[in-house]
Amino acid sequence: MKRSEIRDLVRKKRNALTQKEQKLAAETIKLNLSQVVNGYKNAKIALYLSNDGELNTAKLIELIQKDNHEIYLPVLHPFKSGNLLFQKYEKNSPMKANRYGIFEPELNCSHVCPVSELDIIFTPLVAFDDSGNRLGMGGGFYDRTLAKFYRENWQKPQLIGIAHNCQKVDKLPIESWDVPLKTIITPEKLYRW
Ligand SMILES: Nc1ncnc2c1ncn2[C@@H]1O[C@H](COP(=O)(O)OP(=O)(O)O)[C@@H](O)[C@H]1O
Ligand SMILES: [Mg+2]
Repeated sequence: MKRSEIRDLVRKKRNALTQKEQKLAAETIKLNLSQVVNGYKNAKIALYLSNDGELNTAKLIELIQKDNHEIYLPVLHPFKSGNLLFQKYEKNSPMKANRYGIFEPELNCSHVCPVSELDIIFTPLVAFDDSGNRLGMGGGFYDRTLAKFYRENWQKPQLIGIAHNCQKVDKLPIESWDVPLKTIITPEKLYRW
């Protein structure tokens, strides 16, 4: 199957999850989330606000903040097209919808954290496979933003994908620029490569 066909298929699957299934998934994944966050103290953690049937991250963000970690959310880079910035997010942070209709913190450079200073980046994904390959929505935002770190001797941040169980496929057709994940959490399982 082509990448675009896999995107369509898996997006349909996750959008077909019922509210009850979504709620259960967001509750069940907490255990695997704490497995990967345990061991960090006052960490800087990038997450994202879910959309398009993605596993709801709202409660996960609250959980992480309660543990005294800082949460950062992706913001479309104002001039480096196709790249992301990560900006601190608190309960009262002013937010605005970006051009994809996804809410992001209103850009404030003093609250932006360089990627190399983040401890964990949780990435959204459409599909993943048996080897930790990641297929996104097709914008390549995470690939571009992380390319430099992927090429260099990369220690930090840890990249962790979040997905529903139904987003796993056997094998993804990958491209040279795709940045793979070493860890993925689903409600069912914690994958490490
Ligand atoms: N490091 C990069 N530098 C330049 N362009 C990139 C880079 N990574 C991805 N792209 C471009 O972004 C587009 C989308 O990437 P793709 O991997 O298909 O999306 P996604 O990762 O969201 O599934 C591709 O056409 C690709 O050329
Ligand atoms: Mg990609």
